Amino acid sequence: MRWFSKKSDKISGVVQLRGSNNRVIIIECGIERPLHRNANIPGLDIIVVGNNNTIKIEMPFNSHNSSIFIMNDGVNIELGRTSAFSNVKIVCRNGHRQVCKIGCDTTINGAIIELPESSGLIIGEGCLLSDNIKIWGSDGHSIIDADTMEIINPVMEPIVVGNHVWVGESVIFTKNASVAQDSVVGAGTVCCKKYTEPNVIIAGNPGRIIRKNILWNRYNPTKLISDIEKISAKWEPRK
Ligand SMILES: CC(C)(COP(=O)(O)OP(=O)(O)OC[C@H]1O[C@@H](n2cnc3c(N)ncnc32)[C@H](O)[C@@H]1OP(=O)(O)O)[C@@H](O)C(=O)NCCC(=O)NCCS
Repeated sequence: MRWFSKKSDKISGVVQLRGSNNRVIIIECGIERPLHRNANIPGLDIIVVGNNNTIKIEMPFNSHNSSIFIMNDGVNIELGRTSAFSNVKIVCRNGHRQVCKIGCDTTINGAIIELPESSGLIIGEGCLLSDNIKIWGSDGHSIIDADTMEIINPVMEPIVVGNHVWVGESVIFTKNASVAQDSVVGAGTVCCKKYTEPNVIIAGNPGRIIRKNILWNRYNPTKLISDIEKISAKWEPRK
């Protein structure tokens, strides 16, 4: 059985582990199996330089042109089974103990996930992330109040995207942001706050709630309307 797919990948699919106690674990039917050093995973490069880093990947995991780079210690990455993990780059460096968890059945078409310091990212199940998404778990550089000399841009919490959230193209998430379940984030939005209300549309820069009490699904509107019409026709009372 092929775990990962797409022969056209530019990515070589190599797993390189340099350091001690670095583990890449494949989960199949709930059973964990460690991958050995220099194993090959089509569609996903994994390069780890550091110690005590763990990456768990649940099968089936359909990855394409994606990579994970870890250049520090104590990282914990958990990726749930998915039919599409494409053009994703996860980078953990200049820090330690970053956490990155992506729930099962979440589709990603293109994302750069930068997790400096000890920042984190938790994405729920059944989400849909479009292309050209940027996620910055930390600002990467310090901003200091000139009077008090306090750092004003610390990382407080991981970025959290709830279950079943649709993230449109070219969205940016900044540190400490969160989006509640069943919501939509419009194209080009900068998500820089905690949006705690579920079932909303967030759009703009800075992202604001532009509509409440919505549902969304993966079908395009034309197909959805035609399906609803078919169902309604079926249930029309007989004369
Ligand atoms: C967010 C979105 C779903 C909203 O669609 P909608 O509910 O039909 O919203 P409307 O077009 O009626 O716009 C409502 C208001 O929000 C504004 N708005 C809509 N999308 C916006 C966006 N991405 N950024 C900023 N403002 C936006 C509109 O200008 C309008 O403002 P107004 O009330 O002042 O006139 C849609 O605009 C969008 O961004 N889609 C994502 C497309 C995409 O990335 N697809 C990838 C497929 S994976």
